[in-house]
Amino acid sequence: MSFHDLVAGTLVVAPMTRGSNLPFRRLCVELGARVLVSEMAVARRLKQRRGSEFALLRRAPEEPCFGVQLAGNKPEEMAWAAALAESRGADFIDVNLGCPIDHFTRMGLGAALGRQPNKVRRIVEAMKTAVGVPVTVKIRLGWKADQLNYLELAGAAVDGGADGVFVHGRTREARYRQPANWEAIAEVAAAVRVPVVGNGDLLFPHDVHARLASSGCTAVMTARGALIKPWLFRELTTGYWNITAEERLGIYRRYTALALEHWGDDEHGRTRVRQFLRWHAGFWCRYVPRRDDGHWPSMQVREVIGEPRSALEGLLARTDDSALEYVTDELLNSGDFSAPPPVSPAVSDPRGDRRARADDEEALAAG
Ligand SMILES: Cc1cc2nc3c(=O)[nH]c(=O)nc-3n(C[C@H](O)[C@H](O)[C@H](O)COP(=O)(O)O)c2cc1C
Repeated sequence: MSFHDLVAGTLVVAPMTRGSNLPFRRLCVELGARVLVSEMAVARRLKQRRGSEFALLRRAPEEPCFGVQLAGNKPEEMAWAAALAESRGADFIDVNLGCPIDHFTRMGLGAALGRQPNKVRRIVEAMKTAVGVPVTVKIRLGWKADQLNYLELAGAAVDGGADGVFVHGRTREARYRQPANWEAIAEVAAAVRVPVVGNGDLLFPHDVHARLASSGCTAVMTARGALIKPWLFRELTTGYWNITAEERLGIYRRYTALALEHWGDDEHGRTRVRQFLRWHAGFWCRYVPRRDDGHWPSMQVREVIGEPRSALEGLLARTDDSALEYVTDELLNSGDFSAPPPVSPAVSDPRGDRRARADDEEALAAG
């Protein structure tokens, strides 16, 4: 199927190290997601036959469309890895040109590779000869504000045969400090002849509909929006869901069940599930509903919830470690959430440290 037919009109679950793990993608599918991308898999590690990297290629049977994202900067290695991913069921293969983490950029991967359009062209060419499924690239706007190269980079990838371009509308240097630049995303959509998928700051259904309608993109994509509120996919058909804390808990419990199914309900599996639950809880606590005055919270301004509507909602909004550990343990042990830890006097506002926590969210992913 063409990349256009695979993704047109959808909200894609973005590639996220740790975040777009298999049970989380299954949860998103149950909530309405149709196109999902794997965690980033490093081509070299696949070549070294590392089991943990192979696990990232695994597709859940119910995923309607599953893309695998690869990181690498050697054409032959990327071609080989793409063929491997295709043989394991990937519907398209994406090249990471945006990862900002020093560990990877120092090796010439991710955003560092995004500075080399000619090399990107050669990599895409090699991958295209190796697979029959679509090949895409995921780019940023550039390395930093005075080194924007998104049009050149997208053009080079398309020259090499790329079937689609994902655009995260920020530079490497900006990380998450500025809002995504959707004008630049629209420029790419207008400039290339393949489908463009715009990405940045989508959190509520009206954001998604507005960007789809006005950016010229074939589809749009969310990362943090899916982590903070996985029910965003359902909202695209039902409209804004004024979800209660109990309903949220139902979704978190479902993720717990899927995670136990995936990693196993034995000692080893539960240790792993616990790590993932604790990690996800760090995003779940950031959910803030629409204000009574109709104002929509934004992802850029860390808003606090104000007066919670129930004790459970208050607990789910806490960002202090003791609360996050408690939520994690109650989920893992099917607890009833009836005895939350007291707010420590050292934490003057248990919801007040959001900015520091989330300043560099991809660092969380690497950690
Ligand atoms: C926890 C986390 C992990 C991420 N890992 C990857 C990754 O492996 N590959 C990638 O291309 N982008 C990765 N990203 C970036 C997202 O795919 C996305 O481009 C970015 O977060 C902007 O979208 P948003 O504003 O919807 O969060 C990650 C983002 C987060 C929050």
